[in-house]
Amino acid sequence: MNKKIAVIEGDGIGPEVTRQSIKVLDAIAAQYGHQFEYTYCLMGADAIDKTGNPLPDETITTCLNSDAILFGAIGHPKYDNDPTAKVRPEQGLLKLRKSLQLYANIRPVSTYASLHHLSPLKSKILEGADFIIFRELTGGIYFGKKESNAEQTFALDECTYTREEIERIAHLAFHFAEKPGRKKKLTLVDKANVLETSRLWRKVVQEIAAQYPDVTVEYMFVDNAAMQIIQNPRQFDVILTENMFGDIISDEASVLSGSLGLLPSASVGTNGKVALFEPIHGSYPQAAGKDIANPIGSILSAAMMLDFLSMPEEAGMVRDAVNWTLMNSFVTKDIDPVNFYFTSTIGELICDFVSGKVSGSVNSQNIELRKSTII
Ligand code: IPM
Ligand code: MG
Repeated sequence: MNKKIAVIEGDGIGPEVTRQSIKVLDAIAAQYGHQFEYTYCLMGADAIDKTGNPLPDETITTCLNSDAILFGAIGHPKYDNDPTAKVRPEQGLLKLRKSLQLYANIRPVSTYASLHHLSPLKSKILEGADFIIFRELTGGIYFGKKESNAEQTFALDECTYTREEIERIAHLAFHFAEKPGRKKKLTLVDKANVLETSRLWRKVVQEIAAQYPDVTVEYMFVDNAAMQIIQNPRQFDVILTENMFGDIISDEASVLSGSLGLLPSASVGTNGKVALFEPIHGSYPQAAGKDIANPIGSILSAAMMLDFLSMPEEAGMVRDAVNWTLMNSFVTKDIDPVNFYFTSTIGELICDFVSGKVSGSVNSQNIELRKSTII
């Protein structure tokens, strides 16, 4: 197959993790006889530095003309520490999500037996935890009216939702919950005891639930959900939630897998034509350029992209390769601060697996040579 991929490397560790995904995609292309044509675009702090605009029009056009978008990370401390900045990198990502109507952000949370010992949580809590968060991405407080007064004594962020915005993502989440292999359970996470928007979510989801009789629906307040995710994650299958709650609980949920650096995501839209794939982590500026960031979140996002491009076998191959690295403790510094491998080495190992150069049994001596040394 021939596919056009828009690549937005973005800020901080974005370029170095995205580069590993491109290497892996190239290995997949070679192995399965595909052609991936990449077009690089600007967004975020990088785009502000080069053009003054966090999302140049050219980026939107390229994305619209592509089959899929691979995105790295966004954000820079010089803006985080300056609350008065008028132009901010994150505006680029929010505008892109809105312009392409990417209303559903899908974040699978998996746990890996080989990493259980590194998690702050006990293994018995992690065993069997496997759920997926459907986060609404183009509405809510992120996109409501924003105001502040000249004296800087007052500020406002409005949270609004329409029935239609809730319905479209709810249907996606219910469809997913029905799939073979799922636990057929959907949990709506909201704050319906306080927020009007949450009450609308509950009402709409209760109505829609009737169309999916095989799916059990539960409702959970977000404060309780924050606790339950850590205390009993196995109870979840599909979590459906609004924009900001989804942002917060997905970072929290990443603790289950061992590192924020491991979690991928897909943002899909109305027409199913173009979708965006990005790791859930941020730009991690402290690690930028050091070859220590975890590329797995990006590589698994590329696997989600392959699924979206109707290449399930290829996606499975990438996931097998990732599992193989994790099973053999070929991990980056965020996971094992002492015995770790570099970002680029993990990318190479995954490519080697995809190309059939290594398999289940590894010559650990050769791999050891590629390990970092801590002095
Ligand atoms: C995410 C990020 C973004 C968000 C930021 C960078 C705007 O945290 O994708 O989770 O809040 O949506
Ligand atoms: Mg986030």
